Amino acid sequence: MNANELRSKYIEFFKSKQHAQIQGKSLLPDNDPTVLFTTAGMHPLVPYLLGQEHPAGKRLVDYQKCIRTGDIDSVGDPSHLTFFEMLGNWSLGDYFKEGAIRMSYEFLTSSEWLGIPAGKIGVTVFEGDDTVPRDEESASVWRSLGIPEERISYRPRSDNWWGPAGATGPCGPDSEMFYDFGKEPCGSECGPGCSCGKWLEIWNDVFMQYNKKADGTYEPLARTCVDTGMGIERTVTVLNGKKSVYDTDIFAESIASIGKAAGCVYGTDPEKDRSMRIIADHARAAAFILGDPKAVTPSNVGAGYVLRRLIRRAVRHGRKLGIEGTVFSPIMHIIIEQMAGPYPELIENKARIIEELNKEEKKFLETLHKGEKEFEKLVPNLLKNPQKIMSGRLAFKLYDTYGFPIELTSELAEESGLTVNREEFDEAFRKHQNLSRAGGGQAFKGGLIDHGEIATRYHSATHLLQQALRIVLGDHVAQKGSNITAERMRFDFSHDKPMTADEIARVEAIVNEQIRRDLPVTMEIMALDDAKASGAIALFGEKYDSQVKVYAMGDFSKEVCGGPHVEHTGVLGTFKIQKEQSSSAGVRRIRAALE
Ligand code: SER
Repeated sequence: MNANELRSKYIEFFKSKQHAQIQGKSLLPDNDPTVLFTTAGMHPLVPYLLGQEHPAGKRLVDYQKCIRTGDIDSVGDPSHLTFFEMLGNWSLGDYFKEGAIRMSYEFLTSSEWLGIPAGKIGVTVFEGDDTVPRDEESASVWRSLGIPEERISYRPRSDNWWGPAGATGPCGPDSEMFYDFGKEPCGSECGPGCSCGKWLEIWNDVFMQYNKKADGTYEPLARTCVDTGMGIERTVTVLNGKKSVYDTDIFAESIASIGKAAGCVYGTDPEKDRSMRIIADHARAAAFILGDPKAVTPSNVGAGYVLRRLIRRAVRHGRKLGIEGTVFSPIMHIIIEQMAGPYPELIENKARIIEELNKEEKKFLETLHKGEKEFEKLVPNLLKNPQKIMSGRLAFKLYDTYGFPIELTSELAEESGLTVNREEFDEAFRKHQNLSRAGGGQAFKGGLIDHGEIATRYHSATHLLQQALRIVLGDHVAQKGSNITAERMRFDFSHDKPMTADEIARVEAIVNEQIRRDLPVTMEIMALDDAKASGAIALFGEKYDSQVKVYAMGDFSKEVCGGPHVEHTGVLGTFKIQKEQSSSAGVRRIRAALE
């Protein structure tokens, strides 16, 4: 079964269960500053999940184009994509857990529909915590359908809870459906939801029971709803006995064409396969962003910046594969034709898609060429050094002056028989960051690690995060380090035990509340002592100039810092803590993203 057939079957099935088909929406959300892209099918439906009447009724079905960039580093593995399609059925105050699970099971296993053997299905349900009880109701529906106990896993909130991209709004426990690839379990704990590669999540039934408020509390919804999301690419993978989304016919033609341009065959070299997959994924995402009626083009802000990064990353992998000319031209036609049935906007905007891609590719290649020339000039001298090592400082200079990504420097160095001292680079990178973050680096040309708008946003988010942590955990919290890339931030701080799920949720809610308040960000230059006396947070042990910049975010936060920062917190999007873990003795580390 291919993607088109799956899409049609899903819609047909739910129509036969009295669902009205509604139109999927733009990839760029309407009037919603909290996210850059539509990240799930439920996103455009939030007002209805919260209680508004939907003109099409109480049972809806649709397919929705989505983009998630939080996992961009995992793209190329068997299951991760930036662009994907989500099939969804919705109950707005109609059926709830039992109805949703029974329909999911029927669609998955009935020979009239997908016909997946029941023995291949495993499920997870919410295990419960201090705030919300264990979801025994869902578990017992699964049992009644014949799913054996060992294929029902109870999982924590971090796995089996869904809220909207914004931290507040409709949310509830979910029950996820997994396909068993048949591998041996990785250990005694291995069950549905385990990430060892045995299980692949294909569908998620979310039971919207609560409205999460800004103060972190959950208020029961007057009308419960169901939001489900089935990933087309993953489901096509299992229906066709494949192990990876990239091995399905969704990608077959574009990957083959990339291989042709690069003179290599898919499936023979894992490194090259990964590059081919990344190009195929990023090109598809770029086609959809450029083809969206909202017409985003590459830029240094917001969705345009994400688009630019996707394009540039694809170009880099194209060069890594040895593709000299354009990476996009050969595959764009394939992608557009393949997807134009369900998404006619791709044909309508075909000229714009191709033109913008070519323009951006050309621009990036020029920057690359310039940097590469500089690099070549350095090589003869470096080769005189008996260890053939390129210092991390030099690599950092290339990064700082020419915007040369370290991966590229390493690749070029390797081609010339050199090795980059990566530790030294990381050290220089960190120092640079600390300097700019602490304000002591005001004289340091360059400022923030990445002048991109997104990195600036993350930088501003660290201020909100630090203050929120102090509110929730106490005044002992002090920043110990941070690391920002265009995709995420890492923040280290003093605290001697793991944060609880509730503390994490509260911190997230507080940060998002400050974003929603759209606080003005202001800067004042003052004497260090005055800054400290005014209550501004300064880094312990950091050396500051006598005059420092103090950044305030409304009445919420005040820090000595070099900047730069956003002008208003409202542009930050939605703050999401992805991980909280130990960093070293007495220091915790948070990894978070703005979505
Ligand atoms: N919102 C849920 C998800 O994205 C189900 O649609 O997984």
